[in-house]
Amino acid sequence: MPTRRRPGPCSTTGGCSRCARRTARRRCSPPRRRTPPGSPSAPCCTTCASCGCPPSARRRPTSTPPTPCARRAGASGAARPAPDPGGTAGHRAAGPTVGPCAQSPSPSPAAPEALVLGEQPDPTPGPGEVVLEIAATAVNKADTLQRQGNYPPPPGASDVLGLECSGTVAELGEGVEGWAVGDEVCALLAGGGYAERVAVPAGQLMPVPAGVDLVTAGGLPEVACTVWSNVFMVAGLRADEVFLVHGGAGGIGSMAIQVAKALGATVAATAGSPEKVEHCRSLGADLAINYREQDFVEELKALPAGGADVILDNIGAKYLARNLDALRTSGRLVVIGMQGGSKAELDLGRLLTKRAAVAATSLRGRPPAEKAAIVAATVEHVWPLVADGTVRPTVGSTYPLEEVAQAHRSVDESSHTGKVMLTL
Ligand SMILES: NC(=O)c1ccc[n+]([C@@H]2O[C@H](COP(=O)([O-])OP(=O)(O)OC[C@H]3O[C@@H](n4cnc5c(N)ncnc54)[C@H](OP(=O)(O)O)[C@@H]3O)[C@@H](O)[C@H]2O)c1
Repeated sequence: MPTRRRPGPCSTTGGCSRCARRTARRRCSPPRRRTPPGSPSAPCCTTCASCGCPPSARRRPTSTPPTPCARRAGASGAARPAPDPGGTAGHRAAGPTVGPCAQSPSPSPAAPEALVLGEQPDPTPGPGEVVLEIAATAVNKADTLQRQGNYPPPPGASDVLGLECSGTVAELGEGVEGWAVGDEVCALLAGGGYAERVAVPAGQLMPVPAGVDLVTAGGLPEVACTVWSNVFMVAGLRADEVFLVHGGAGGIGSMAIQVAKALGATVAATAGSPEKVEHCRSLGADLAINYREQDFVEELKALPAGGADVILDNIGAKYLARNLDALRTSGRLVVIGMQGGSKAELDLGRLLTKRAAVAATSLRGRPPAEKAAIVAATVEHVWPLVADGTVRPTVGSTYPLEEVAQAHRSVDESSHTGKVMLTL
């Protein structure tokens, strides 16, 4: 019998002949774990006859409110064929947006309420992979975009949401060395974190830093790897330089402020309210700017250095020209988010005059070997700072997986600071 089973539409892979073969094979077995339901790609359905699934492939209706039909969601770009060939999806999993089908008025496929719990077969570890029994995961901005159908998982990745987790090693795949069943770890994922189990390449495992509890550790991999890879591996921030991070009170910003400060940089951060500005200061920001009331370019230019050497930007197009204004000679701008759009004009003349550089990166779609290199560097450089208390994980709120919709809503509304955690 499943534990904590929740009514809901079927998960991505759950039970539809058009979905995953693995699921279909196991659909007659008693469900073993709950899984976050309906990812955009989940074409199967629990209750609806309109999706085309043969009746034998449908799961029994539950008391869950109907959720939007994957087919209809497909019109908004949310639905896609359910893959997970790598076995990276979980069991009880909180699926995204669009899982199952519904006949009656229901939340918009893009709404947090369209997230419901479903069930999936257990993953098995491929060569070089381990299966984790998940303790906690975190809601990242990318998850909300995926829920809305705007950020499909990379090929081969689970379409269950979740880019990071913590938990216990439950199974080892062929050739895995250095980890044992029962080890407590956290991990960087390409997807599948909102589930009770996930399969992940061993190179993406990280030990739980000393002094950090297992749940809190589930919110560390994505922010720590993003900050280390972009601010230090790409932009090469040095101790005598000025660093600016936009969105300083968010998950990435909270980590970036602390790591940059710990390594000796002068740190500036932008945030959108007095409380968030204070949060940035409390983490060590030398200059915390309320971007709704102050011009960050002017504030940066007023510093003795006259600007920033490195900028970590989550806004994109809307800030491109002003970021360039705020950069010092030989400055480096790294764009990691497009909350302000993706297309803008770049004045190459100004870039050239400043001998500056603009980079843009994403972590999720990288091949496992690149992720493993980033994970190793992050464990080497950031984990000691966490273990000695110099860098603190910043958990703003924690929800049980059953309340995944509320957790997503808080990120949608940007009412959070730091990380928003989900516990299994
Ligand atoms: N490329 C990658 O590999 C990668 C990896 C991880 C994350 N990311 C991206 O990085 C960004 C941040 O992620 P996160 O997890 O930290 O998200 P988050 O926790 O939601 O934080 C985002 C922050 O941005 C702030 N913000 C919104 N508009 C702003 C503006 N105009 N100026 C300054 N700050 C603004 C928000 O605060 P207010 O509401 O107060 O404005 C919020 O604190 C997201 O866009 C995410 O997709 C990229």
